[in-house]
Amino acid sequence: MTRFFFLILGIILFLTACKDSAIVGAFLQPAINPKTGLIERKLDQAQIERGERIYTSHCEGCHGANGAGTPDWRKPNADGKYPPPPLDGTAHAWHHSTEVLKKTILKGTPPEMGSMPAWEGKLTEQQVDDVIVWIKSLWPDEIYDVWFKNFEGKS
Ligand code: HEC
Repeated sequence: MTRFFFLILGIILFLTACKDSAIVGAFLQPAINPKTGLIERKLDQAQIERGERIYTSHCEGCHGANGAGTPDWRKPNADGKYPPPPLDGTAHAWHHSTEVLKKTILKGTPPEMGSMPAWEGKLTEQQVDDVIVWIKSLWPDEIYDVWFKNFEGKS
């Protein structure tokens, strides 16, 4: 019985020590493209396609084709609010975690601050997740790499 106890204790200690080791780490780390040294994106193709359809019917009218945004997105309108920014990696969508993007899309911006409508109740959470994956698929590899390191893992 004592021997069994020590065996279990040994296994627990071993696994704890392994947690940060290269062996276990290799399973948790994202794959790196050997040519570019950048993180390989593993986005779900079906989700990208669903997200694109949601984008085209609900978002494109403001954020433009392929998330290109308004050319003058840095300049506030006469009412002091900013026009829809690009979502394709050339503005600041990638400065936000997935949670923050999701919250922005679901809740919109407060009317006194901006004109991004709230999609809660109009789109399901799944649809919002899908459109975020589509947005991420637009970002250049370098941008995705920085975003991933900032928000998803140190790698
Ligand atoms: C009526 C026009 C309009 C529509 C439709 C619209 N947006 Fe926006 N969106 C905006 C504006 C304007 C902003 C900037 C808000 C601000 O300055 O606070 C914005 C901001 C955003 C941001 C934050 C970007 C950043 O860089 O922080 C995201 C993400 C976003 N929209 C996604 C979407 C998605 C996804 C849809 C479709 C489901 C959508 N928007 C539909 C006008 C719109």
